[in-house]
Amino acid sequence: STTDGRIRGFDWQAQSEDAFRELMRRQGWVDVDAFEIWKQVNGQDGHQATKVKIVTACDERNEFFFPGFIDTHIHAPQYPNAGLFGSSTLLDWLKTYTFPVEAGFGAKSESASETTTSPSDAPLSALRIYDQVIARTLSHGTTCASYFATIHIPATNALAKLCHLRGQRAFIGRVCMDNPDFCPSYYRDSNAEDSVQATQSTIEYIHTLDPKGTLVKPIVTPRFAPTCSWSALQDLGKLAAGYNPPLHIQTHISENTNEVALVKKLFPEAGSYAAVYDTHNLLTPRTILAHAVHLSAEERALVRRRNAKISHCPASNSALGSGICPVRVLLDEGLTVGLGTDVSGGYSPSILEAARQACLASRLLGHKTGFESGCCSVLNGYKADAVVDGWEKLSVEESLFLATRGGAAVVDMADSIGGFDLGMLWDAQLIRLGGVPDLGGSPLDRDISSVLGDKSSLVKSGPVGNVDLFGSEMWEEKIHKWVWSGDDRNVQAVWVGGRLVHSRE
Ligand code: GUN
Ligand code: FE
Repeated sequence: STTDGRIRGFDWQAQSEDAFRELMRRQGWVDVDAFEIWKQVNGQDGHQATKVKIVTACDERNEFFFPGFIDTHIHAPQYPNAGLFGSSTLLDWLKTYTFPVEAGFGAKSESASETTTSPSDAPLSALRIYDQVIARTLSHGTTCASYFATIHIPATNALAKLCHLRGQRAFIGRVCMDNPDFCPSYYRDSNAEDSVQATQSTIEYIHTLDPKGTLVKPIVTPRFAPTCSWSALQDLGKLAAGYNPPLHIQTHISENTNEVALVKKLFPEAGSYAAVYDTHNLLTPRTILAHAVHLSAEERALVRRRNAKISHCPASNSALGSGICPVRVLLDEGLTVGLGTDVSGGYSPSILEAARQACLASRLLGHKTGFESGCCSVLNGYKADAVVDGWEKLSVEESLFLATRGGAAVVDMADSIGGFDLGMLWDAQLIRLGGVPDLGGSPLDRDISSVLGDKSSLVKSGPVGNVDLFGSEMWEEKIHKWVWSGDDRNVQAVWVGGRLVHSRE
């Protein structure tokens, strides 16, 4: 890594691997081994193979570098509600849990004028929560996140500022919601014009904070169709297109069947949920669509034609009972997919958890044949034979691809993050695996010593950690163990653009 934070002097795809080994060895890595994780997307023939190449150190530390995780969909102000959703589903969850917590991010005092843009005018509680969610996601290895904030300008700007200070790569979206028929009176934009103007104000703040968008960028954020008037959607589409390059856009789509029915009722002339966004120029190559659980084949084809991207949020989809996203279908059809935690529809700020849940959801999906309606309507008529037995499950490697390179493509940064290719940014995490600490004090150990006698010194505790290894695992198996039972205790250090932003030491 050099001062510009890019990977230099080591071509991960060519001969100079030896030079890297030598460098690592000098830094105390006993035996350095480059390890490639191959994954395949697009199913059967002609699928494209992509590799996530990592470096392992084959001594007792059991450590390896991995590309930083990319959370393509997370609501920063909802972090206090992570794990709190009862048995609600999307639309009642929004009203009961979500709008109330987001409303608390408003200006800290009556006297603060409505046009204030300064982060210092955000309530202290908002600053605390935002700082906490950034620190927490970094500690889980998330080096880049696409955040929904709230409707409030000072708090949204504060989120951008805090990401910049802590060094997390981020997209920051002021949430737009002006439909009085859906949004509560205590938490909404007064009209479409205000919604767009307030958004513009946060865009200007972020562009001043980080003029080149090196770390933090604005993202236009109509919350979802039911919260937005026709003219707000229209003007937000225009707003994004008016910048050079055009701004990123994020929203939700087709998460829950009641929501889909509501959109049909609110926008009868549009034809489909995806068409509502398309009509307003909100389906672009820089658009992130969260969930996409219940899209029709026509809608998926439209999303693909527009080259809009999908954020798969499996933990949230299960927690809120929204349904199972047919992620294999999306990949087979050539859509670009990344992972999102969707805190606090999702209960965990960890993308490793999202990867695990993506694997589990894909394994359950094959069981849905014959009882599709409401669970996964997409399976109606799709590969009916394959579903029964040979339904292609998402592999651990594929889930890690979605967490890194997939997410990078979703945020339109596939050339610079998500892998360790020459010239890419050093957005990385150092993972350490290992077993329980200090086995020496255990009564069982004393028993073992009495049995082994002289050989007892050979019984050594392994490195401290929370993924037990037994010495016989191949690196592929260690990676599998990490995905299925690892967590933030395994994340020793995290870098963004070459800067150390988290360390457990
Ligand atoms: N749809 C509209 N708003 C939200 C939100 O905050 N979370 C989720 N999961 N879905 C939404
Ligand atoms: Fe969401």
